[in-house]
Amino acid sequence: MSGPAIDALTHDAVRPMRWSDGALHLLDQRALPHEVRWVRCAAAADVADSIRALVVRGAPAIGIAAAYGAVMARREGRFDAGVAQLRASRPTAVNLMWALDRMAALVREGAEADRLLEEARSIEAEDLAANRAMAMAGAQLIAAGSGVLTHCNTGALATAGIGTALGVIRAGVAAGRIAQVYAGETRPWLQGARLTVWELQQDGIGATLIADAAAAALMASGAVHWVIVGADRIAANGDVANKIGTYALAIAARHHGVRLMVVAPSSTVDLATPSGAGIPIELRDPAEVLGCAGRRIAAEGVEAWNPVFDVTPASLVDVLVTERGVLHRPDAANMRCFAETADA
Ligand code: MRU
Repeated sequence: MSGPAIDALTHDAVRPMRWSDGALHLLDQRALPHEVRWVRCAAAADVADSIRALVVRGAPAIGIAAAYGAVMARREGRFDAGVAQLRASRPTAVNLMWALDRMAALVREGAEADRLLEEARSIEAEDLAANRAMAMAGAQLIAAGSGVLTHCNTGALATAGIGTALGVIRAGVAAGRIAQVYAGETRPWLQGARLTVWELQQDGIGATLIADAAAAALMASGAVHWVIVGADRIAANGDVANKIGTYALAIAARHHGVRLMVVAPSSTVDLATPSGAGIPIELRDPAEVLGCAGRRIAAEGVEAWNPVFDVTPASLVDVLVTERGVLHRPDAANMRCFAETADA
């Protein structure tokens, strides 16, 4: 890949949120890449609304934002009601529930808002550290000169920084292992087209955007060696819920001998859900499919189905990278390592 060499640990300019003046400031991801504007959330209900509206999105980022929202709920003296609103904001990413459970456990011990703020900051810092570890571990699996394809946005915008799948790509480019990055546009919300290629551009990493429908043809051309994606929830048997279209990429990858790497922190693993069949899949407004960029495309009266996540069976996943290590061919047996580590 031509262009400047990057240091994965320092070339990481983008952050999706910041806490200041007792409020959570969210980089408005609906407006990117053409406008950089921030939304100030001073109440737990504002955070819940922002998560639902995709001002902030990406599994780890919504967990972190919800943790800050829980601080506000405590401050407002309506912790249970505020947390219930946050919990209901989006159903699929388990990081949201995981972060709120962590805050609720502290409240049961009598913690006040100051202590909860410390915890929210810890959740954010732990996510950044996990992303650094995963970036290094994942990049080492990639042979020099490889082409990779990613889907949705799994970068700094979707996390505390660096990113999950995009963190591996940052580190892989820095190490000279990745020669070419392809990003799927990710209809209907266009996270790939609007966010991923912009985020990489901020760090001087070139990427080639493709229509989602071009992915199989790209794989057939031999240009791609790995599909690298994130996850919103990983069930106890290794099934992976992620952005709609991931399942189709996984099938095409297996057909073409391209390997699939899933990169996610352990906060995305849900051992209480036995398989992907039990993962709630968010259905959003059909208008997102019937139009584009706020403009109606399909004729009036046409209906649409808009599930925004799908489930990739574990059998199609070659490698799962978490901050705790690398699992080859995840399944119910080797996923038990998460339970053992949690119990230890
Ligand atoms: O609807 P979104 O944009 O929140 O969906 C995001 C994804 O599907 C990501 O791949 C996933 O959350 C992992 S982000 C590190």
